[in-house]
Amino acid sequence: MMSGQISESKINEVREQTDIVELISQYVSLKRSGANYTGLCPFHSEKSPSFSVNSARQFFHCFGCGVGGDVFSFLMKTEGLAFPDAVRRLAERVGIELEEHIPSPEEEMRERQRERLYRVNEVAADYFHQMLMENPAGDPARQYMKVRGYGRKAAGEYQIGFALDSWDGLKKHLEEQGLAATDARTLGLIRPGKQDRGDYDLFRGRVIFPVYDLSGRIVAFAGRVLDDSKPKYINSPESPIYHKGRVLFGLYQARQAMRQSGEVLLVEGYFDQLALYRAGFPQVVATCGTALTSDHARLLKRYVQRVVLLFDQDAAGKKATFKAMTVLQEEGVPAAVIELPNGEDPDSFIQGEGAEAFRDRLEKARSVMDLFMDDILAEAGNGIEQKVRAAEQIVEQISGLSSELEQGLYLKELAQRSGIDLEQLKQVNKKAMGRVQQPKKLNYSAPHLSEDYPSPGATFTKRGRENSAAPGRQIEAKPEWSRSEETLLCLLLQNHVSSKKIITAGGLDLFTHQVARDIAQILLDNSTDSGLDIESFIGKLDPDKVRLLTALSIHDQGQFSENIDALFTGCLNALQRERNKRQRGELREEIRRSELAGNQEQVKKLLEQFKNLK
Ligand code: CTP
Ligand code: MN
Repeated sequence: MMSGQISESKINEVREQTDIVELISQYVSLKRSGANYTGLCPFHSEKSPSFSVNSARQFFHCFGCGVGGDVFSFLMKTEGLAFPDAVRRLAERVGIELEEHIPSPEEEMRERQRERLYRVNEVAADYFHQMLMENPAGDPARQYMKVRGYGRKAAGEYQIGFALDSWDGLKKHLEEQGLAATDARTLGLIRPGKQDRGDYDLFRGRVIFPVYDLSGRIVAFAGRVLDDSKPKYINSPESPIYHKGRVLFGLYQARQAMRQSGEVLLVEGYFDQLALYRAGFPQVVATCGTALTSDHARLLKRYVQRVVLLFDQDAAGKKATFKAMTVLQEEGVPAAVIELPNGEDPDSFIQGEGAEAFRDRLEKARSVMDLFMDDILAEAGNGIEQKVRAAEQIVEQISGLSSELEQGLYLKELAQRSGIDLEQLKQVNKKAMGRVQQPKKLNYSAPHLSEDYPSPGATFTKRGRENSAAPGRQIEAKPEWSRSEETLLCLLLQNHVSSKKIITAGGLDLFTHQVARDIAQILLDNSTDSGLDIESFIGKLDPDKVRLLTALSIHDQGQFSENIDALFTGCLNALQRERNKRQRGELREEIRRSELAGNQEQVKKLLEQFKNLK
């Protein structure tokens, strides 16, 4: 076995590439339940499932015995491996090379090229933006944007630009900045001219939207003409830094709101994304002139529990909707759909009807399967044969749903709407399911730990780093903290409430129990402007802290009422009351002691304090 340190970035890479649901499915039979998967805990014996796996956050947690963690801790516990060996095992599984890696000259060159490409895009974006904001020749673009409702401020906020209607404005600018033409060509920003005409700009006479990756670097551009000429949009081609199947327009700006709301609005157009974002629906992204891919779906799954599709209201839009439905279904992401009046897109709807009307539609979003059913049945009409074929098509789609309960509900619905017998539909569904590949399931016999398992509420004990944890026989205790403390931590961890709000409300002082305080401290220390990204710091924490954090982060968000504000205030009040009660108890004790000591002066003073507390 090899020795030596495995780099943090490699560890993260392995964690990211491993699908926790798939891994755990090899040991435990898992069933989907809302945002989580549940099953019988392999670490203690139980009859009803309290073991939960959250695929979006890539954590597991047992609400029965308190065990929890990420893919590595799972393997360490089940196979009795030390941490580095667990990393190696999983790395091998996903095909990641762990050996101390000395980059080859080619790799170093590629890395340097990528850095240069980012730089060229950055300079180009500045140039485009400058043209829109300052250049006299940018006047038509300014006019155009104004008509669409974008003034200087909005243009500045979204870094919108304008490519002048000139042959090689950008090309010359890049040259002046000493940037290599080959890099600009690799990015597709400039193209080789025919015969002896020199290179020319890809974007000419177009409004420019920069496309960001998740690190906030510009990886591509989209350009729209100012009139009705074709093509309406041009997009940067794929390049070493841009793969359109993995990038979503607006994700960089939307992800915080996506985490908070648990949903994302998926639109087709750049202007649709901007319009919804500005109208108070910041949880919105657009595909960049391409169909939704499974890479996109997996990316979205990291942030949200459901995707709301908002495609154009035409035949092509419908087709795209159903295609996206299938892609999302395959990744196990619930999808809803909002319908808009014919001929409208989200941008025109917001302009015409306003944000409130849109909110109304959003609240009435219905499942895509529902729409699909309606659509296919309506198309089929009343002919028996057509109806049967339609039903078969719908069942096929239903059979791809990961939840059997959900399948059952839709089958019932279909029976009702089509008039076909439910039992028959179930038969067809069963057959269709047989064709769908089922995840591999191995049964795992749980070690019998029940005698070691402490009662809930047992005192939480600190343990050191458990690098070579033995499987099974471990006592996992639950921390002692109040419901309100726990809820508050959940709200913070799941980005429902900002750290700023917690700090304003009293920060660490809100928490009485030491463990809650410790966790609060970690969360407050690690929160950034864009919220808390637990994956970014969990690697550095003690296993006991990891366990608690994963437990908190896996807490079903559904339990929180829609009204987070009310919940938050409720917690604060409860904690305030608790603190008050504690202080009164302490005072009472002190008063008793002073009385015994015959210190009347002191007793009077304390009684006064006691009254004030009430
Ligand atoms: N698109 C593209 N290339 C085209 C046309 C469209 O990449 N030639 C992509 C763009 O991402 C565009 C989306 O498809 O935003 C939707 O196209 P369309 O509905 O035609 O345009 P809108 O987004 O409505 O644009 P606008 O509001 O500016 O007319
Ligand atoms: Mn539009």
